Amino acid sequence: MSLESIKAEIVELTQRLNRYNHFYYQEHISKISDFEFDSLLKRLTDLELAYPLFKQPDSPTQRVGGSINKAFETVRHRYPMLSLSNTYSDEDLQDFDERIQKDSVGAYQFVTELKFDGVAISLVYENGLLVQAITRGDGEQGDDVTANIKTIRTIPLRIQPSSMPAPAYFVVRGEVFMPKSEFERINLEIAQDNLERERLGKKPNNLLANPRNAASGTLKNQDASAVAKRRLDCYIYDVLGDYLSFDTHFDALKALKSWGFQVSDNYALCANIEEVKAYINEWEQKRFNLPLDTDGIVVKINNYTQRMDLGFTSKSPRWAIAYKYKAESARTVVRTVDFQVGRTGKVTPVANLKPVLLAGTTVKRATLHNANEIERLGLNIGDTVFLEKGGEIIPKITGVDTSQKRGADTLLFPTHCPECQTILERREGEVDFFCPNDRACPPQMLGALQHFVHRKALNIESLGEKTLELFYKKGLVRNVADLYDLKADQILALEGFKEQSTKNILQSLENAKKQPFSKVLFALGIRFVGESVAEKLAVYFGSLANLRAASLESLVEVPEIGERIAKSILAYFNESENDLTVRRLESHGLCFMHTQEAVQQRGNALEGKTYLVTGSFEGYSREDMDRVVRENGGKLASGVSAKLDVLVVGEKAGASKLKKAEQLGVRMMYADEFWDLLKV
Ligand code: IVH
Repeated sequence: MSLESIKAEIVELTQRLNRYNHFYYQEHISKISDFEFDSLLKRLTDLELAYPLFKQPDSPTQRVGGSINKAFETVRHRYPMLSLSNTYSDEDLQDFDERIQKDSVGAYQFVTELKFDGVAISLVYENGLLVQAITRGDGEQGDDVTANIKTIRTIPLRIQPSSMPAPAYFVVRGEVFMPKSEFERINLEIAQDNLERERLGKKPNNLLANPRNAASGTLKNQDASAVAKRRLDCYIYDVLGDYLSFDTHFDALKALKSWGFQVSDNYALCANIEEVKAYINEWEQKRFNLPLDTDGIVVKINNYTQRMDLGFTSKSPRWAIAYKYKAESARTVVRTVDFQVGRTGKVTPVANLKPVLLAGTTVKRATLHNANEIERLGLNIGDTVFLEKGGEIIPKITGVDTSQKRGADTLLFPTHCPECQTILERREGEVDFFCPNDRACPPQMLGALQHFVHRKALNIESLGEKTLELFYKKGLVRNVADLYDLKADQILALEGFKEQSTKNILQSLENAKKQPFSKVLFALGIRFVGESVAEKLAVYFGSLANLRAASLESLVEVPEIGERIAKSILAYFNESENDLTVRRLESHGLCFMHTQEAVQQRGNALEGKTYLVTGSFEGYSREDMDRVVRENGGKLASGVSAKLDVLVVGEKAGASKLKKAEQLGVRMMYADEFWDLLKV
């Protein structure tokens, strides 16, 4: 192929993929299958890697991130980013209207829009291309977050051809947000991961507090590929420029849409302030059905000349105002309180409420978090409480309404586990109560089963949460070793299971026997034995027999293993039931020996390319990583050069290496992608 034709293919693929992207994300039309899209994108990525000079400035490959910023550069806004003055009442709106009338700008109209609750962004376009994305900062200067912004699929990297001409230079303003569904997806992921962390005595990761903080935190992430994994979105609501060809905001919004920007369709033209109030009322409840959080309405004068006449105060325009909805609150009665035992044994009080409408949804339950919270509230059963729903998704009980008749029943935290009647324990310095009966308390037994099959443990995909729960409820399995006694006819006898699904389950249990000793050890769910500790133990002791025979002294000799972990291991094997479980698993053929092959499945997935590893990887030393490369057929390079094929990038990777790799157009690969490559 000639260079000419390669360049032509790169240009063509770029345009095509951008067009498909626009159709998919803005018009919700799939022009091609995901598979075809991915193949074309892969082709473009490969061509760009081989011929970096031909890479187009609006290449869709930038959507997946890749660059790592050490610190964001501070840049000045060409037009300052102002804020709006807030109002909360009809009177304030009336005042706003009267002030405009006094300025006698002639007959005027308003445009009303929703006030999106996210992070303000300013995007600079030159000759149709997105060249810079800047956060608000102090309004005068902000952070250059261009690489992160480019991962947002609804932001055009190049504007669409339109009958409304765009000037060579213009700036658009909008709000970057995290859709509620994405926020919930990520929190679910964190919560699931925390279950495991808690089992292992690791500090849980914080859940995202609300979509706005999540959007703002994500946008400040210095790794653009991490940003790409959290699907942020953006609504554009303004355009600025010295040579704009329209006279009203209404026309500007139409032009923005025609250039390919995502403009929310929910704006309205209002002839007077009464119509503005009607719009506000209309959206007070309807806004909760939107895919994102909104906290009010923005009211703007439509005509640009009138805007100029009205001018600005030092902080905000006189031609616009924000109307904020009040944080929603409600009052209801606490009927009963359940004490739920989680998979890790943690006991959480949950209030059952008399159903009440709050912020567009009916609320029946609210968490009371822990014993301290109950004490803080001074809550009795039967009390009337205040509920609030602000930015957060889950409603909060903020206090007891003491002006109402108090509940008669004092609420006491149980002393015994509601599931298995064992005496609850509160570990030193912790607020939560735990049930210590981890081997026989039903939710904890189920938790142990789920840990065993988890992706990071034995990865038994066909045993999902629901299936395990069913097996447990039907009495087919009580502990992990029982899984290996399952017979096909037992499964087939259950509703919803056919030949194929049964076969899949038995086959995936069989496949798990190929998992290395370290994974099996991790899957046992010994307290404080996480993935990396399991790996260390497997390498050091080499077999279960050796580990079982180990003394406290020999355990603490293993690097990174302290007394806390050592004692937990000893306690585990001391319990006869655990010992029996392990022996049963062993007799079923699970791997309890550390073999060289088991370290990382050996293969030839990396053959023919040179690799360099930089940064740190959870559970692996640098030597481990180098060995993984070698054992999978890869060659190791000693530094970044044009000869290097792939730079494998871990946490806290060296900035100079990354920069050099970027300059030379060396492919960068993050941990997830690297491990995926090695999967068999
Ligand atoms: S117009 C001169 N329209 O609210 C400021 N702002 O305090 C013009 N916002 O920083 C802003 N939705 O981040 C405008 N439809 C909308 C908006 C909106 C959210 C945010 C924006 C701005 C803040 C104003």
